[in-house]
Amino acid sequence: MLSAAHHAAGARATQRCRALGIAPYSDLADALYRAWLTPAHKAALGALEGWMTEAGMAVRIDAMGNCIGRYEGTAPDAPTLLIASHIDSVKNAGCFDGPLGVMLGVECVSALHAARRRLPFAIEVAAFGDEEGSRFPAAMLTSRAMAGTLDTADLAIADAQGTSVAEALATFGLDIARAAEARLPYTPIAYLEAHIEQGPVLEAEGLALGTVTGIAAQLRYEVQVEGQAGHAGTTAMPLRRDALAGAAEMIAAIEEIARAAASDVVATVGRIEARPGAANVIPGAVRFTIDVRSGAEGRRDAAAAGILAAIGAIAGRRGLAARWEEINNLPASPCAEPLMALMDSAIASTGQRPFRLVSGAGHDAMVMAALCPVAMLFIRCEKGISHNPAENVEVADVAAGFAAMMAFIDSLGDTL
Ligand code: GLV
Ligand code: MN
Ligand code: MN
Repeated sequence: MLSAAHHAAGARATQRCRALGIAPYSDLADALYRAWLTPAHKAALGALEGWMTEAGMAVRIDAMGNCIGRYEGTAPDAPTLLIASHIDSVKNAGCFDGPLGVMLGVECVSALHAARRRLPFAIEVAAFGDEEGSRFPAAMLTSRAMAGTLDTADLAIADAQGTSVAEALATFGLDIARAAEARLPYTPIAYLEAHIEQGPVLEAEGLALGTVTGIAAQLRYEVQVEGQAGHAGTTAMPLRRDALAGAAEMIAAIEEIARAAASDVVATVGRIEARPGAANVIPGAVRFTIDVRSGAEGRRDAAAAGILAAIGAIAGRRGLAARWEEINNLPASPCAEPLMALMDSAIASTGQRPFRLVSGAGHDAMVMAALCPVAMLFIRCEKGISHNPAENVEVADVAAGFAAMMAFIDSLGDTL
């Protein structure tokens, strides 16, 4: 049931994600890393602005660096459908996590524009800049600003190089004093995000597409462990207060606690830094992150409480000081049931049986749920691999995703 036009749109969206996967759209020469407010982010917004303009949209960059293209509806006061995803990436990323949803939004508008179709609602397509939280110790800052749930005090943070958000915004040509202006001046009728699944379920089911039922709750901490730096050759083992050895025991305990918890609880230590970082010096200080998730806040919080208690106990036994700071806390976020039903029908219109699944990965949709009803469409990715350069999608699946989005948009018009 897919036409040549669906395939062409799928191919172009896929190719544009690949094009953004290398320099100058990456801050690293040999891998993809596009963090918020970096030169690579700026370059990607430049390319996107061109594609959005070509698709018939009026483009603006808001006060937080979100790129937003607007395609008017039949009337100037028509409501707005917001289609979005993120353009930032993790370190050593694949090129589809985030950009694919943005490029598909551009394709939807491009198809309407080419057919000279206006709908009873306007469409805005947005590229968020900080979904991953890969630069500053926070995440989803730019969607939170757009949803109006960001406290400007949350911006008083700095990256690993000591660059503050205020400085990074200024380098990007933006002013932190105006950050609150990124709040959307309207309430969307719906928020739609297409994303690669980042997991193996669709592939195992032999399906290209899935309707997302909701997104797991997330909690992130930054932990600091202080010990005593010392000479690696002269300090006898019982006399050491090795912060890295302590952190290693803590990490093993984190894994153990998550394994023993309910089956949907996951916990990850994804970043660790030991100082001073020399082969002949006992590490005196360590910082690491913890990311804990579950479909329900209660299960997540119970695991997190156990983890923090274990960290305290290990630190105490080893004569270390451990402290932690919560850097991200997002409740579980259900998608809107009426929109899930629309998405099921939209998927069925592509010739595939509807299929529903939950998202363990976080998405800006969790934040936008504070503002309006949210829908998400998952697209199968190869072997479920993501946050990895091996991330891959089939053009045919992206074409099916495009067809489902167009069907969803059409049926949304019928509900107004
Ligand atoms: C984003 O990719 C997340 O789930 O952390
Ligand atoms: Mn991601
Ligand atoms: Mn993503």
